[in-house]
Amino acid sequence: MPEKDKQIVKYGDVTQRVGVEVIRARGVDVEKLIKMLVANAAAEFASTYYYYTILRMHLAGHEDYKEICEDARLEDRAHWELIVPRIYELGGELPNDLKEFHDQAGCVAAKLPNPPTAVNILTLLLESERCAIRSWIAICDMTFGKDPRTYDMASRILNEEIEHEAWFIELLAHERDGKSIPSGHFRRGEPGHAPYSKNAGFYNP
Ligand SMILES: [Fe+2]
Ligand SMILES: [Fe+2]
Repeated sequence: MPEKDKQIVKYGDVTQRVGVEVIRARGVDVEKLIKMLVANAAAEFASTYYYYTILRMHLAGHEDYKEICEDARLEDRAHWELIVPRIYELGGELPNDLKEFHDQAGCVAAKLPNPPTAVNILTLLLESERCAIRSWIAICDMTFGKDPRTYDMASRILNEEIEHEAWFIELLAHERDGKSIPSGHFRRGEPGHAPYSKNAGFYNP
């Protein structure tokens, strides 16, 4: 057993966690990590999933954009579902107050723009994905080589956020500038397929 894994947690003790002590021993600031995960959970669920639902409604008439928005929306919900158990495993918890939780989000709320044109909505969606990429790469940096479980989760989510950015670059360039900037997007199998974060096979019929 490496020196740093010497037993801190006493036999039968349920107030401490070996799963936390081993990552602390490798240099992870666990309290800071929990805070960042709560901020990311709030961004995925409150500022993204919730507001994307509203934004998508207002893409009426652009059924192609709505399809893509639906995948991004549902995949962010899948991200939320992945993050929450990890927060509790680390000894953290979600704020009991939804407003307080919303206000801790690491990304600004993607509220319906005024006027709610497709260009304005797609710009907002693009910038939300960019915030998500920055937030998840920060978790990857913090956990790489130290906390394999959080790192694996964060890198799966990051994979999808990078795809989401590419999708919205493609759609915004087309809608606003009449330009073709392909994302390299293949369609998802089902809405919210989330191949990385749900560990689902890639759509390949
Ligand atoms: Fe996400
Ligand atoms: Fe996303």
